[in-house]
Amino acid sequence: MSAELNLVLLGPPGAGKGTQAERLRADFSLPYLATGDMLRKHVKDGTAIGVKARAYMDAGDLVPDELIIAMILEEIDAQGDDGFLLDGFPRTVPQADALDEAIAGRGRRLTAVLLIDADDECVIKRISGRRVAANGRVYHIASDPPVTEGVDDEEGKPLVQRDDDKPETVRQRLRTYHEQTVPLIDYYEGRGLLHRFDGSRSPAEVAEHIRATLSTLRLEETL
Ligand code: AP5
Repeated sequence: MSAELNLVLLGPPGAGKGTQAERLRADFSLPYLATGDMLRKHVKDGTAIGVKARAYMDAGDLVPDELIIAMILEEIDAQGDDGFLLDGFPRTVPQADALDEAIAGRGRRLTAVLLIDADDECVIKRISGRRVAANGRVYHIASDPPVTEGVDDEEGKPLVQRDDDKPETVRQRLRTYHEQTVPLIDYYEGRGLLHRFDGSRSPAEVAEHIRATLSTLRLEETL
């Protein structure tokens, strides 16, 4: 059996999916596909997808399934068979079904779904302090500040707050998560794919726990 890792990161907004993805990509050399990043690029570039997606994102709602599914499956295909790390997809049961069907049709399957969990109070604190650089690097004003306040360590350019990180939008994103994405926890648990991680721990502790789980899974795959 191949030791290809096909991973999904699941969890509420601000739980630390992007933070952990950065570490996983470095450790396991996996192609990384984050639907939020892709959509923000479409919005910035003013593409047809971006124009359609913007209002949903600004309101804290999910972009319609058909738009997201077409966008991400095309990217997965473009990556070849080296495994993948999906962040922010799937987020609904129809998206999960579409992913399953698409990869099964190519003789592949998911290795694991990594749920990084944290309660609403914790994620609201995280998101209110998040600042991002134009190159995508994510900071937190308290737990992971830049060397010089307000500017990126590498490029020295100003850090900004994401448009959808305003408090009222965050509350709606959390409602959306509980209503539409939480059902995926049972969905993947029922398939024996779900692994839970306590996202309220430090980034290093969460990363260590994930690394240990993935090493065990890889070992099992090769037996
Ligand atoms: P997306 O960009 O995917 O946003 P999200 O899921 O809401 O996740 P975030 O990026 O907010 O948080 P994160 O978990 O990555 O946290 P981070 O590591 O940055 O989606 C945006 C929008 O796009 C959606 O609302 C929707 O409209 C649309 N969309 C995307 N995918 C879609 C789909 N599949 N279907 C439909 N619509 C879709 O960490 C947060 C902060 O906390 C940072 O400041 C970080 O430094 C800090 N931090 C992280 N970990 C820790 C820790 N352990 N301890 C202390 N601080 C920490």
